[in-house]
Amino acid sequence: MTIWKPELSPEGPRYRALANAIERAINEGKLPPGERLPPQRRLADALGVTVGTITRAYALVEQSGLVSAQVGSGTFVKVERACEGFARVIKAPHEGLVDLGMSLPPPHPERQASLARFMTAITQDPAALDQAINYPLDDTMATQRRRYADWLTSQGLAVDPQELLITQGGTNGITLALSVLLSPGDRLAAEALSYPGVISTARERSLKTVAVPFDEEGIDVEALAARHERTPFKALYLMPEHHNPTTVQLSEKRREALVALARERDFWLIEDGVMHLPLEARGTPLYQLAPERTIFVFSVAKILGGGLRSGVVRAPTSLLAQLRIALRNQCWAPPALISEIAGRWLESNDADRLLAWQFEELEVRQAMVREALGGFEVAMRRGGFYAWLTLPGEHRAQALVETLEQNGVRVAPAETFCVGSTAAPQAIRICLSAAPDREALAQALAVIARALSEAAPPRWQTV
Ligand SMILES: Cc1ncc(COP(=O)(O)O)c(C=O)c1O
Repeated sequence: MTIWKPELSPEGPRYRALANAIERAINEGKLPPGERLPPQRRLADALGVTVGTITRAYALVEQSGLVSAQVGSGTFVKVERACEGFARVIKAPHEGLVDLGMSLPPPHPERQASLARFMTAITQDPAALDQAINYPLDDTMATQRRRYADWLTSQGLAVDPQELLITQGGTNGITLALSVLLSPGDRLAAEALSYPGVISTARERSLKTVAVPFDEEGIDVEALAARHERTPFKALYLMPEHHNPTTVQLSEKRREALVALARERDFWLIEDGVMHLPLEARGTPLYQLAPERTIFVFSVAKILGGGLRSGVVRAPTSLLAQLRIALRNQCWAPPALISEIAGRWLESNDADRLLAWQFEELEVRQAMVREALGGFEVAMRRGGFYAWLTLPGEHRAQALVETLEQNGVRVAPAETFCVGSTAAPQAIRICLSAAPDREALAQALAVIARALSEAAPPRWQTV
């Protein structure tokens, strides 16, 4: 039987090179959760090193929490690791904390009242209540598909209701796309920094991730072509309008080049449009440029609220039957009641009113960031939730995040978004929409500005 045998970097001690290779293989999905690492003697023979080198390397990887040694049976890739991506980001808030780590829309003062109105209306509509109680079927979801299609079309995202599938939100949409396009062991390409939910889901599904560099114009299409040449992938996940976390937008030129490459090399595009920007701030959707090979993922999480768990995927009709089956296997269908609430909300003027307010509020909050962090390198996009701050001088993201947390402010370090073994830049994502109000945001920004103007803590603790 052949065993997993890594390529070792020629630099540094052998045990460390092996530990790095194992970590990389785990992060890239080559050693999936639950996989047993090769028996130590066999790997030692295969690599031409001593058993002691292998023991040291395995111990090092165990220290980093990626594997666990079980007496008598071997060393295994930890299964919990599969879900860690998200667990690391989502920590419980504590008293007095301004949490700018989560991605939330700014809370409209009338949002609750608006939700209450739709809920009350449904309680007085026997037909809607009947539908809410019974298992939803494709037919009963037709109204919701039409409501989503009408609203998206009114936003310049023209879709045919026949191309839509109602989901339980963006994460569900991404999972469905991955489950119909890729099998365990297949490769998924993504921008080198990406949405943690997709990294986590890819890992859980034992997919291998291919990290692709990007710059201020978005994903580097030439680098993407080179990656595909070396390690062909089946699908590319990306956020063309508002890259999470960096706020970069894919230029029109790159969109065209990307679509041409996808057609030439025959890979799928998973276009995440969950972060919804004003029409004037958006480019041409990829699903309009390449409808035959793009799954567009949308949810109401960033416009109405994440608690609703409602969204859609738009896909070519050739894929819809498979997506429907995958949804049925996973959860039968999204809750009819929630879909009805979200559908009515979108159909009403309320959703547009809340959204108009949201864009205005974001403009004010972005101006506050420019004012408070004016001397630093900060990227923001009109209508977006994030400020991506590249740290000055010797500041390190992880240390800064800890300092801020001790001072009552939570932000997300770049590390959270790294795909595979991508090296994290020294940067943080500040979700300026997540502050409960402007006052809390001002307070948090002052804490961040102060921490940045102080000297970075020393980190040289060895000789
Ligand atoms: C880029 C992106 N896609 C998808 C999602 C998940 O959306 P949902 O909450 O609807 O599952 C998020 C949530 O933050 C996101 O930032």
